[in-house]
Amino acid sequence: MKLIHSNKELNQAITQARSQGKRIGFVPTMGALHKGHLSLVSIAKAHADFVVVSVFVNPLQFNEGEDFDKYPRSIGQDARLLTDNQVDVLYAPSAQEIYPKDFEIPRLLAGALGEKYEGAARPGHFDGMLTVVSRLFDLVKPDIAVFGEKDAQQVALVTQLLNSQIRSGRRSPMALKIGPTVREESGLALSSRNVRLSDSEKQVAQSLSRALFAGAKAGSNGETIKSTALGLLDPEAKLEYLELVDALSFEPISSIGPNPARLIIAAQVGKVRLIDNVLIDGKK
Ligand code: PAF
Repeated sequence: MKLIHSNKELNQAITQARSQGKRIGFVPTMGALHKGHLSLVSIAKAHADFVVVSVFVNPLQFNEGEDFDKYPRSIGQDARLLTDNQVDVLYAPSAQEIYPKDFEIPRLLAGALGEKYEGAARPGHFDGMLTVVSRLFDLVKPDIAVFGEKDAQQVALVTQLLNSQIRSGRRSPMALKIGPTVREESGLALSSRNVRLSDSEKQVAQSLSRALFAGAKAGSNGETIKSTALGLLDPEAKLEYLELVDALSFEPISSIGPNPARLIIAAQVGKVRLIDNVLIDGKK
């Protein structure tokens, strides 16, 4: 595996792979890699011949008061994991490569879908996320990119952005693949933030997935789904939201209709903010 820090070297590696007729697969990450990321890598490998993983902790998607500095960083360990998983390139740029001082990278706006739930809790987060994702797509020019379902609202926004960029001719067609959430045996969704949970906080954190699974089983009535889920949430978890939403638009819904729905949750456990969700099939 090649560890690349500069856009120039990245471009050379991509150009060479393309000249050999290879399809480029891309997994954008902020590092502190775990099995969830590695499952996205294996999806990329299944659909492409040359896989690039980026590790960049994007300052634009952290707002004031959020711990950009404390976000876990472990590039040495990440590089080892990606080498073991036969990734071709680990692209770990500096902020200067992503946001150069000598030309302006257009800041994207996430719009209405970016203002609710995660967007409401973290103002500006999705604008920063879309800005960096679009910039990374410009640099890597992948044929396919892989994102994790755990960040379902992020997936919905990236899908929206990509569709509109491809429709307008701003970007060549490329595919998005969505990897299912990887969980511990307890049900806890893997997240880079989990390393900051103490043992007792981890027990509390496990109640988020228990709540979601119970809610998803509870039937087709929105209130029953939510109250069943709430009943299983550990009282030590500080709930931010628990909502049944349409899986595409993220509009709240009161019951399961013909379209897929998602039960989404965010809660603070100790100093760690956790999110999770489950997909609930529509009733045909
Ligand atoms: O999901 C993440 O880790 C980040 O939001 C992403 C997509 C790498 C953009 O910084």
